[in-house]
Amino acid sequence: MPFTILECTDSDMPRAFELLSIAFGHEHPYVESVFPAHETPEGRRTGGERLLGWRKGDPLAINMKAVDDATGKMIGHAKWIIPRGVVPPEFALGGEYWESGEEKEYAAWIFGQYLMPRRKVFKESGGNVVSLDLMTIDPDYQRQGVGRALLRWGTDLADELGVDAIVEATDYGRGLYASEGFEVQYKWVTPMPGKWEGREAQSFWWMIRPKSGKETKC
Ligand SMILES: CC(C)(COP(=O)(O)OP(=O)(O)OC[C@H]1O[C@@H](n2cnc3c(N)ncnc32)[C@H](O)[C@@H]1OP(=O)(O)O)[C@@H](O)C(=O)NCCC(=O)NCCS
Repeated sequence: MPFTILECTDSDMPRAFELLSIAFGHEHPYVESVFPAHETPEGRRTGGERLLGWRKGDPLAINMKAVDDATGKMIGHAKWIIPRGVVPPEFALGGEYWESGEEKEYAAWIFGQYLMPRRKVFKESGGNVVSLDLMTIDPDYQRQGVGRALLRWGTDLADELGVDAIVEATDYGRGLYASEGFEVQYKWVTPMPGKWEGREAQSFWWMIRPKSGKETKC
């Protein structure tokens, strides 16, 4: 299936959120808590608005898409953070999308914890790293090389900039990332202390693709 990789526009964000919702399904506590009722029309509407808000509020973020050449349909989305030597500011989870204050607090906990390894690398590298924030492919179009193409857009840029690339990988993405040079550092499991004890923890494979040794030596 021929497809093209393009930079997204603001008007792609509702579809980008729809892809997030259908590709992740209900398997991830992070997605369930941060984007409550994401499968409903209202959840999709607010989700699209939130992706748009995050896009507009973050000059270091680049949203890329894959478009089916035959139909023009957006079939994949990848959001990259390209700091280029700036330590990205840390956003808190905001808005009023939760049915109770407690659900919002829980979402904020998961959100903050999920981002800890990434934020550590942002600081330690002084923003000299490329981060794959999100990648979702329409389930009807998976396993046809779309994810790999969106991934290579960012790893090519990492090579150009001479920096590592990082990702919080799901079980689904892990093999693909490994085949493109990412190495598993460890399995991250969100700590669930105190009042969150008993709630389902989010986990991911923390993976780093070391910068390529392409520099020419004199
Ligand atoms: C993970 C994900 C992004 C991969 O996207 P994709 O478009 O299916 O990926 P690709 O087709 O480029 O490659 C994936 C696999 O399909 C294989 N593949 C590629 N083209 C193929 C083809 N024509 N026929 C069969 N297999 C193929 C690749 O070799 C790769 O295999 P492996 O990873 O099992 O070794 C996608 O499955 C997804 O959106 N999953 C749900 C959300 C998610 O978990 N995202 C990752 C967040 S970190």
